[in-house]
Amino acid sequence: MNRLDTDVLILGSGGAGLFAALHAKAGAPDLAVTVAVKGLLGKCGCTRMVQGGYNVALAPGDSVERHFMDTIEGGKWLNDQELAWILVTVARERVRELENELGCFFDRNPDGTIHQKAFAGQTFDRTVHKGDLTGIEIINRLAEQVWARGIGRLEDHRAVALIKTRDGAAVAGVVMIDMRTGEFLFVRARAVLLATGGGPTMYRYHTPSGDKTCDGLAMALSAGLRLRDMEMVQFHPTGLLAGPETRMTGTVLEEGLRGYGAYLLDGEGRRFMTKTDKRGERATRDIVSRAMFAEMRNANTGPMGGLFLTMGHLDPVEVRRQFPGMVERCADCGFDLVSGLVEVVPTAHYMMGGVEFAPDCSTVLEGLYAAGEDTGGVHGANRLGGNGVANSTVFGGIAGDTLAKWTPKHGKFRDPDEAAIAAAEAECLKPLANPPGNLEDVRERLAQLMWDDAGIIRDRASLGRALNGLDELDKALDGVGVAGDDLAYNLAWHDWLNLKNLILVSKVIAAAALARDDSRGAHWRADFPATGDLETSTFTSARLVGGKIDVAMRPVKFTRVRPGESLIKESAAE
Ligand code: FUM
Repeated sequence: MNRLDTDVLILGSGGAGLFAALHAKAGAPDLAVTVAVKGLLGKCGCTRMVQGGYNVALAPGDSVERHFMDTIEGGKWLNDQELAWILVTVARERVRELENELGCFFDRNPDGTIHQKAFAGQTFDRTVHKGDLTGIEIINRLAEQVWARGIGRLEDHRAVALIKTRDGAAVAGVVMIDMRTGEFLFVRARAVLLATGGGPTMYRYHTPSGDKTCDGLAMALSAGLRLRDMEMVQFHPTGLLAGPETRMTGTVLEEGLRGYGAYLLDGEGRRFMTKTDKRGERATRDIVSRAMFAEMRNANTGPMGGLFLTMGHLDPVEVRRQFPGMVERCADCGFDLVSGLVEVVPTAHYMMGGVEFAPDCSTVLEGLYAAGEDTGGVHGANRLGGNGVANSTVFGGIAGDTLAKWTPKHGKFRDPDEAAIAAAEAECLKPLANPPGNLEDVRERLAQLMWDDAGIIRDRASLGRALNGLDELDKALDGVGVAGDDLAYNLAWHDWLNLKNLILVSKVIAAAALARDDSRGAHWRADFPATGDLETSTFTSARLVGGKIDVAMRPVKFTRVRPGESLIKESAAE
């Protein structure tokens, strides 16, 4: 196996990974920092796909306390309040850094201040944006800076296993596959950051690109780390429904459309959100998606089984001006967003759950750090639109700062457990020993199973079916082989590895959902529809023990505000 040493290895090149790389290099210029990514740096991942924007309390009348309370209320009081507080406070610093140091330029008001648009579930319009394609602006500027600063790159490299020292006390490095050649590589590092992003692509409809397959979460589980809140999978209400034959189906139509006043209509053209929530279409994503799913279950739908989004009652000139990307995307798929009806469906978008981590982005495993969508706790039971890219950039920067301080003092090149390296390689090579089979069948069955039984509405029986079905799928996948005569860009092989990770993480989603017998945010149990007592809230904490999933319930600590209280009054002067 090829070998490489780097002081700091960053897995992932979204907002979290790139910010971490820049901060680590700025804080400790002598460190060798390497970013490894499954695709091309700056061209892949979820941050680049962000349309809507970045939440931050900037405008007069808004405050970090208000942003914090929206985040906690939206998260149904399951958030780690210290992490949520860091999110809202450091977001102010980070947006200045994005503009003044990295060169982003967000949309402006006529007076030159940053324009902030309305997103759902927020009591103030605080979403900073670049038109309706904000992620491209952020990632392009970050990538340029990374290219300019002597940061190493391993592109088209997928990470397959975190390798510890023989005594298991610390991380020693990562086994990777160079996808261009199919060769294995062990990267030894003094510190490793997990920032691969989540990506719930195990559901029939999903927003992230197909290369997002929860690889970081799967590696963390295999390394024995705990994941919290894994039952909390966010469905974005407005995924494009453009038919089964196109990968455009499931891609997101940004929340700013509903923020601006778009309506959702049922199959007969009637608004239905006003029956469910006084905020109507501007209710949080969990509430809107559930209401849509209920209409879909009642077959009260459009021709392809979805609902309709309409902006026909709004000023067409403004719709075109404010949402050119969305208008074009819809037109590409045969829909008229400005004056017609666009068929939409709730689409799996984001995982609130992830690795348990500390405010400085450290984990329980020495030398291993985590940031962004690989982590859990910031958002609780539901993430507000616009808090995702804020999370990845805020905590990515913090991770980089921590790495710059920790690595020179405490980070060591440690001897890896060689047996674990060999086992990781052997595990990846397994499908190459079997006759090639039908991976698409496994993917289809996984997508339907998760959508039907562990999706927007679940109950004990459906989750039992999901867990049994996932075990069967796992076995079925083990029997499906992949042609191994040429390992360079062997995409079938990588699909197999992707599916393996998705099935493992799906099992954890279903197990955590079964353990949680109440309904909160994105997790709705038809057999336990009550929210439960907020004061005694618990969160799920899952890990792998001997190949089996163990889920513990842990109490939420209300370190800043208790249910029924608010921080806003105390700071009305801000
Ligand atoms: O609707 C959106 O533009 C998505 C943004 C987000 O998930 O934060």
